[in-house]
Amino acid sequence: ITVTIDAADAEKGTFPFYMLKEISEQPAVMRRLVSRYVDDAGTPQFDSAMLSALAAADRLYIVAAGTSYHAGLVGQNLFEHLAGVPTEAYLASEFGYHQPLLSAKPMFIFLTQSGETADIRQVLVNVKQAGYPSLTLTNVITSTLAREADYAVELGAGPEIAVASTKAYTAQVAVEALLAKALGQHKALPLAAAFDVAHQLSLAATGQQALIDQQDKLHELATEMFAQTRNAFFIGRGTDYYVSLEAALKLKEISYVQAEGFAAGELKHGTIALIEQDTPVVAFITDPITAARTRSNAEEVEARGAKVLRIASAALAEPGDQLIVDDLDPMLTPLLTIIPGQLLAYFTSLDRGYDVDRPRNLAKSVTVE
Ligand code: G6P
Repeated sequence: ITVTIDAADAEKGTFPFYMLKEISEQPAVMRRLVSRYVDDAGTPQFDSAMLSALAAADRLYIVAAGTSYHAGLVGQNLFEHLAGVPTEAYLASEFGYHQPLLSAKPMFIFLTQSGETADIRQVLVNVKQAGYPSLTLTNVITSTLAREADYAVELGAGPEIAVASTKAYTAQVAVEALLAKALGQHKALPLAAAFDVAHQLSLAATGQQALIDQQDKLHELATEMFAQTRNAFFIGRGTDYYVSLEAALKLKEISYVQAEGFAAGELKHGTIALIEQDTPVVAFITDPITAARTRSNAEEVEARGAKVLRIASAALAEPGDQLIVDDLDPMLTPLLTIIPGQLLAYFTSLDRGYDVDRPRNLAKSVTVE
């Protein structure tokens, strides 16, 4: 296979590491996805046979690994709310051997940056054998999983070189939103018609840029929070929980800090036992429905000595919150909140003198089960 890569895309340029370059590209990726997929009337355009197949499904199964799985978790809400179809995200390595009881008309969405992850391929082989329809959302349209699924959609993030995934994650969330909106409109659902996805993604691009522009501040916060620590917690509820998982994974992958993403309400059922003087806890607060409760969880750990960094949406911000992100539909706030997650991990790794782009023991694409 020949893969065409734009030379400028694959060069590091003036960036010290690919990861920082790729983090910085995210606003441009958002804008590119809008101009690529959304028509003048604000409707995302996708293959109509694919939309009909999705519309015929009574349940969507998103199957993925690592960062892509975390993007899949965010996708559940988007497909359920905008397209009215029950949707569940699964880890490919689990699904392969512990298959849940499937619905009558399932459709499978394989979410994968590389399109080569062996754990996913194993699921795809079974799904095809069973005769179920499948769609691969991937950054590499020539990949194995793109070729072998019934349908494929390109994430369009451009080549991602750093092992720790950044722009592919936000591209996955954005493409899920575009697809969910297109599917909802295909099914003539009023909620989908009312959801201005192009506007949301353009707000996301502006908000991401504002955060990237604060990287000196994020470097200081990273030093303050993580310079000395061996462990760290990220908490939130709902979508903020899903971004907590991804922010923790970033820190684990490149800084080797033992980090946990936790559902804020579950802290009291066990994890709070780990909080000591100066344990770093990052709290994401972007959902009006759960903001007050997450705040009180943050206060509980603070009262036990934790060093808390609050990242809140503008409309929900309170005095003392250290970082404010722009307002966005609560289903899409990971497009913003993951930027500090990525940059905190990046600067922690940098300060500790690690090879940010090539963390120990990890590979960009894992082609063994
Ligand atoms: C590897 C990478 C991760 C990635 C995961 C899934 O473990 O190190 O960054 O999230 O594979 O990869 P995929 O290409 O399927 O998204």
